[in-house]
Amino acid sequence: MDKMWSGRFSTGASSLLDQFNASIMYDRKLYKEDIEGSLAHAAMLTKQGILNTEELRDITKGLNQVMSEIELGEFEWNISDEDLHMAIEKRLTSLIGDAGKKLHTARSRNDQVAVDFRRFVIRKNTEIVEGVKLLMQEIIVVADKHTQTMIPGMTHLQHAQPINFAFHLGAYLSMFKRDIERLENSALRNNISPLGCAALAGTPHKIDRDMTAQILGFDSVSINCLDTVSDRDFALEILFNISTMMMHISRLSEELVMWSSYEFGFVELSDAYSTGSSIMPQKKNPDVPELLRGKTGRVYGSLMGLLTVMKALPLAYNKDTQEDKEGVFDSVQTAEISLDILKEAIKTMEVKSHNMESACGVGHLSATDLADYLVKECDIPFREAHFITGRAVAKGEEMKVDLSKMDFKYLKEIDARIGEDVIEYLGLRASMNARTSQGGTATARTLEQLEYFKNYLKGN
Ligand code: ARG
Repeated sequence: MDKMWSGRFSTGASSLLDQFNASIMYDRKLYKEDIEGSLAHAAMLTKQGILNTEELRDITKGLNQVMSEIELGEFEWNISDEDLHMAIEKRLTSLIGDAGKKLHTARSRNDQVAVDFRRFVIRKNTEIVEGVKLLMQEIIVVADKHTQTMIPGMTHLQHAQPINFAFHLGAYLSMFKRDIERLENSALRNNISPLGCAALAGTPHKIDRDMTAQILGFDSVSINCLDTVSDRDFALEILFNISTMMMHISRLSEELVMWSSYEFGFVELSDAYSTGSSIMPQKKNPDVPELLRGKTGRVYGSLMGLLTVMKALPLAYNKDTQEDKEGVFDSVQTAEISLDILKEAIKTMEVKSHNMESACGVGHLSATDLADYLVKECDIPFREAHFITGRAVAKGEEMKVDLSKMDFKYLKEIDARIGEDVIEYLGLRASMNARTSQGGTATARTLEQLEYFKNYLKGN
């Protein structure tokens, strides 16, 4: 009968219940947020005359000792204490006596856990943003070297038009920038203090919620206590934001897997970030991008898990909500290591420019340029130009010659209006550099894009 809530119970909890009910095995990760929350709460209770200064002194000293015991690994985590909130309060009371029993005045575990978890999530939003920025920087280093390196731009995984490799990487820079914006936006929206909401309805004690909010670094105080103790949107947001970021990481990973195959041969991952086979001695496997792709599924699972936990909960706090933490802890950790290892894999990979460029020599990548030529120089309507170009492509297929290398005389046979100047349009580099519209792949435009991302990372 050593439970804090045991007053109305006549028999003790079964050990099976302890195991099933406890969150202490994982919520102890929030010890710092929890102790800081208690220190702020105690300071506020003292200013409001609810605690006296000796009590505050004892509580502060006791909580600091608990913090150092935890950090030194000396704290005794006991499953029968249920969660970290009760374990810390119990230890505090054993250290300082009666003052420890007053700390929970005008507070509940419901607002306490909301404070701890919200602060953890907001801190992680910021830390993950830093990780994404470092990844972007490394992508830019590679992109800077390859603004002239041509690679087949694809749709449907079929050769489409020539682009440069930096432009291709720039697409990922755009995605990662949006990921950062989502995380930052979410941190701003959710930086609201739950402390003082107590169990669900507020408290009759004369508390100062603004004071604790300010001490804890929240921007403001929540509006409605019933919502505040049951809301887990902030946790869902980080799960969604990480899921979307992992989806981007997974798409890039998928390309790295393909590009490092013999069939593509566009990149070679460094030995330090590749693995071998236990049976086939020749193998060098891209486990890193494959695992990144796989872990994305696991992160989605956490998002779906929490959405499902929350979907039918009546107001306000329900114990189901305790299931909010593990998926977030796991996803955050997965996101952090994923960003880190992808950054290193990209930094150390070899880009095989020669293979990228020779891959551009098949698939008639400049076919659209022939159609554009017919429109611009011969005043032929686009639909007709498309048809004529299709015939030129068929001719190329028959002769086994790429359109970019086709002799002018064959083109002339297809349509007499085609002039010799067409040759300037059909070269692959000319084709790439012709795409000068805003956001296009021409090297000059790609350089502007890289400049934009560099400025963004510099905070401009
Ligand atoms: N361990 C709980 C959780 O993580 C803390 C809040 C418990 N509140 C309660 N009324 N049982 O959700």
